[in-house]
Amino acid sequence: MAYTVQKMPAYQDVDGFRLTAMFSPDIFRAALQYQPRADDLFIVTYPKCGTTWMQNIVLLILNKGIPLTDFLQFQKATPFLEMTGPDSAKHMKRPGAIKTHLPFRLQPYSPEAKYIYVVRNPKDCCVSFYYHTKNSPGYHFQDGTFDDFFEIFIRGETDYGDYFDHLLSWYEHRNDPNVLFITFEEMKMDMRTAVLKIAKFLGIEYAENLENDDDLLKRVLVYSSFDYMRKSHEQSVNEFFHKGLDSITNDPNVPEGLKHVIKSLKNSEQSSGNIPNIIRKGIIGDWKNHFTEEQSQRMDDIFFEKTKGTEVRKLWEG
Ligand code: A3P
Repeated sequence: MAYTVQKMPAYQDVDGFRLTAMFSPDIFRAALQYQPRADDLFIVTYPKCGTTWMQNIVLLILNKGIPLTDFLQFQKATPFLEMTGPDSAKHMKRPGAIKTHLPFRLQPYSPEAKYIYVVRNPKDCCVSFYYHTKNSPGYHFQDGTFDDFFEIFIRGETDYGDYFDHLLSWYEHRNDPNVLFITFEEMKMDMRTAVLKIAKFLGIEYAENLENDDDLLKRVLVYSSFDYMRKSHEQSVNEFFHKGLDSITNDPNVPEGLKHVIKSLKNSEQSSGNIPNIIRKGIIGDWKNHFTEEQSQRMDDIFFEKTKGTEVRKLWEG
């Protein structure tokens, strides 16, 4: 019998695209029109596949291993295009990297710009997305169950749409010279090799600097480690929100798109000021603590069906 979803998170549809409910549709539309500069670097992911981790690694490589711990400074050096719009990319503190969660067909694209696409196995992605949705007040899904979310995820009905379509749209470009296609799992299993690979993609001089300077490499690895990021993320978010939602929305330094999200937090019943730490567990295989055998089989079947005729499965082999 078909499963009936009891509770749907709050989403919005913008011109047929399922978007996070807290975002401004106008800013989203404007973001899609952003014209990339030749020296732009984008970090693209389906949500929960390791975006923040990659943003940290890239900023550390570009900024000589010095971490950016201030919340607003971090946003300005690696703006979230769909949330804060094209101006945040135009005025980005450079060197920086623009974050998007867009499928290839919507991604502002230039053959001269560079794109890093991070993918994570769908089961862990689903679990991480569940907690993100449940714990972020703007989704109004605080009492939502994993079973409901699993169903919404495999139907491709979450914000940003279908995981598999997203992945396949970028997988086609994995060998383009201006694309670095990398998995969360390879980063997790061997961070040093992953960091050097990322640095090489950014520019051979960055890789050489890391290879010739143990201290620099060590700083990049320590400041992008799970433990460091978890603590510093929590601290920077708390410091930022400590000012209170009213004073943030009156601050001219805060991008309009971020204010839009914060206003929707203000309007939500659960805006106790508790912003969840998205640096949650950071492991491979947390799905085993959440999926039933049947859910695991259904996800495998959908994976098999959707990726038929491609080599996507090889991403997680060996
Ligand atoms: P979990 O919810 O499974 O813990 P995104 O930044 O795309 O929203 O992805 C968030 C996921 O990346 C979370 O997964 C988070 O814990 C994980 N993550 C963030 N930084 C990490 C790090 N340094 N090492 C391992 N995982 C990390």
